[in-house]
Amino acid sequence: MEKRIISADTHSKVEEEFDKTIRPSSLDEYVGQKELKENLRIFIEAAKIRNEPLDHVLLYGPPGLGKTTLAHIIANELGTNLKTASGPSIEKSGDLAAVLSTLEPGDVLFIDEIHRMPRYIEEILYPAMEDFELDIVISNGDSGTSRNIKIDLPPFTLVGATTRAGDISSPLRDRFGIVSKLNYYTCEELESIIKRTSRVLDMAIDDKASKELAKRSRKTPRIANRLFKRVRDFALVEQKEIIDIAITKKALEKLKVDDLGLDITDIEYLEALIYKFNGGPVGASTIATSIGEEVTTIEDVVEPYLLQEGFVKRTQRGRVATDKAYEHLNISDFKN
Ligand SMILES: Nc1ncnc2c1ncn2[C@@H]1O[C@H](COP(=O)(O)OP(=O)(O)OP(=O)(O)O)[C@@H](O)[C@H]1O
Ligand SMILES: [Mg+2]
Repeated sequence: MEKRIISADTHSKVEEEFDKTIRPSSLDEYVGQKELKENLRIFIEAAKIRNEPLDHVLLYGPPGLGKTTLAHIIANELGTNLKTASGPSIEKSGDLAAVLSTLEPGDVLFIDEIHRMPRYIEEILYPAMEDFELDIVISNGDSGTSRNIKIDLPPFTLVGATTRAGDISSPLRDRFGIVSKLNYYTCEELESIIKRTSRVLDMAIDDKASKELAKRSRKTPRIANRLFKRVRDFALVEQKEIIDIAITKKALEKLKVDDLGLDITDIEYLEALIYKFNGGPVGASTIATSIGEEVTTIEDVVEPYLLQEGFVKRTQRGRVATDKAYEHLNISDFKN
């Protein structure tokens, strides 16, 4: 699949580097998510006063809203190290044991895409989270015998991130003291993220242009930053000192990002839903197949925004296009 400019999904090595340079490193710099930030500030402060690790934190929400960023900030604010792992990379119990055994007292262990960790590995996490204990079974190769050993772990904080809260088993979820959903950002918040990025990358942008970019960023910081970067390229080539509305509109048009931030995949999705399936109801996997996308991409990346903005409704029998979708595509006579 060609890389979507608008996809909030993760990203290439180059983009990861870019993320690092523009990622805020303290709660003060982290824009929006007011309630979550205020709570975290208190919990972090209290943990420091008690000289105990912060409770385990589970962050969930659509891609690109700042979960990984927040995990780094938590470690920074606690003044400890962050060790990272990701659900899919932990295939054997030994992989998890290896990560756990590198922890030092008070460290933050960040497990990204924690919903993709196999269930039997999850079970190793339970005693680690609750009692800072690692129970491992060592099998004695040939003799077929095995023995359990317990290893004490230093107190640590697990920060788990997931785009799919529903896929996390309840025993795992219950072991997190702090469970927080990240919300989509307002245009004002995105504007301030764009302005911050403009300062960090030393490329000025005027108010009108940053408003326009914010409006088309699907309420998602990663997309705001990505669009900024692309528009900056256009400005650079045209030797503009400042990103203005003209260059912004031109770039967005070239990138095929429409005035509500929808891109080609979104439009294909809506057109398939309306023309091929009569506006629904139809299952996500059927739509995915018909436009040649992975169903997980559709469900995790494309649909959350379309649902949130009311272009699509989720019903018992499948997805249904709303009036807003028909209007946005300028279709009046097709509706039955
Ligand atoms: N609240 C925020 N304030 C400023 N910048 C932010 C904020 N949230 C996210 N960003 C920026 O958006 C980019 C994406 O954020 P991040 O990688 O943390 O998202 P994520 O939720 O972990 O996404 P994924 O689910 O794909 O892993 C980062 O480069 C970061 O700079
Ligand atoms: Mg992330």
